[in-house]
Amino acid sequence: MITAPTPARLATAWTAMFAIAALLMGCDQPTPATGAGTAAHLAPAQATPAAVVLASDYVWQLPEGVDLPRIPANNPMTQAGFELGRHLFYDPRMSANGNIACASCHHQDKGFSDGLPHPFGTYGDAHPRNAQALGNTAWYASLNWGNPVTVQLERQIRIPMFGDTPFEHGLEEHNQARVLATLVSDPTYQKLLVAAYPGPQPDWNYVNHIVPALATFVRGLTSFDSPWDHYLQGDTQALSVAAQRGLALFSSDRLHCSQCHEANHFLTDSHVSQRQAAQHSGFHNNASVASFDFPNTGKFEATGKPEDLGLFRTPSLRNIALTAPYMHDGSLPDLRAVIRTYAAAGKTTQNRDPLITGFTLSAGEETDLLAFLCSLTDEQFVSDPRYANPWPDANGQLRPETPTPQPAKPGVPVQCL
Ligand code: HEC
Ligand code: HEC
Repeated sequence: MITAPTPARLATAWTAMFAIAALLMGCDQPTPATGAGTAAHLAPAQATPAAVVLASDYVWQLPEGVDLPRIPANNPMTQAGFELGRHLFYDPRMSANGNIACASCHHQDKGFSDGLPHPFGTYGDAHPRNAQALGNTAWYASLNWGNPVTVQLERQIRIPMFGDTPFEHGLEEHNQARVLATLVSDPTYQKLLVAAYPGPQPDWNYVNHIVPALATFVRGLTSFDSPWDHYLQGDTQALSVAAQRGLALFSSDRLHCSQCHEANHFLTDSHVSQRQAAQHSGFHNNASVASFDFPNTGKFEATGKPEDLGLFRTPSLRNIALTAPYMHDGSLPDLRAVIRTYAAAGKTTQNRDPLITGFTLSAGEETDLLAFLCSLTDEQFVSDPRYANPWPDANGQLRPETPTPQPAKPGVPVQCL
């Protein structure tokens, strides 16, 4: 458990200077998503800027060395927007039949993943890919497992809401108005909406109010308080001796892990901030599955280039001990299986990245590497009340953590020492 507070730089909030900032920062324009999960029905069809755009009053608590993430000029971070987004994230009324919320597939205690190989949508449809953990996504240059096209949270979030391959929230043209009316007639949302978007009351809608608030909440999910973070900031006691040996293995030329999972976010060249431009070189084929059949072809789905078959965005390893099972298809049940798959140089040579060379570890070395991976767990993040379900447990309120019965086998989390 972490007791010492993170030496935090209280980064002052970025004040939105809209047009100028948008030009300087080259803010992402909404781009079409591709393939499975494509947002087919957006309402309203026209993406217009929010009626009232606020200056940011959000206080980021970031450690030294972490720059502020990029924030779209028309959706500045506000505390009221974050609170509205949090209520929506945990509200199963935001689905076609009241069965699922974002939180049904993204559980805080699992680093905002769900413990299943595949999640299930509101009608029980299986998603072909593993539910991704959330945390520090504000810094990701692209979102989703193998999708170089979706580069902004405001765009990604429409996929589970409005997508139909598979249906997740199941919001379609014929039910969107009903679901929206249910939400905005709730007195709790009336207060939250007016606080987030003060001024003359507009017609509340998905594009200008619901999606931006959800993006604000997800953007605010920051995880920088693991033992490894404390070690990085100079507390040499924060990592056990075994974890320190594991860190050395992780960074070694023998294992190459850190060449793809680069600190601080453990991605490859695929993090961006207000100082760094977007890069999209973070896609690799780590050969962790034997074949890359549709719809899990990775970057190939967007580009159609044979050399992109099986390339996925290097995922962050933060909170990795909590997010089993692993890989885009949830096919590896635990961290030992992951390490042994890398040790065997993967399961295929097709498009295999040259860094996946295989290696031999003694039993002690394997334990050390596991100890390091376990040191990336941020207990503060997964128990932080700011990120927790805000809805009361009384009055028959729907609880999104227990959605429709889910038939799949749960993953096996590693036993961290
Ligand atoms: C049915 C389960 C399910 C629901 C409901 C769901 N998600 Fe997800 N989420 C996933 C899966 C699966 C992925 C990976 C999808 C892919 O790569 O194709 C994902 C990916 C993401 C990502 C990208 C993370 C990254 O590392 O790139 C974000 C952000 C996200 N979801 C936020 C949300 C929000 C906000 C909601 C509610 C509007 C939501 N999700 C609802 C299953 C779900
Ligand atoms: C060539 C780049 C590369 C190297 C080297 C590499 N990884 Fe990965 N790693 C990836 C990619 C890409 C994925 C996602 C692959 C997928 O989903 O099929 C991944 C996935 C993972 C996952 C699962 C993440 C999740 O959320 O499911 C873990 C754990 C992991 N790697 C640990 C390691 C360790 C430990 C090493 C060193 C032994 C290592 N990686 C070396 C690119 C790499």
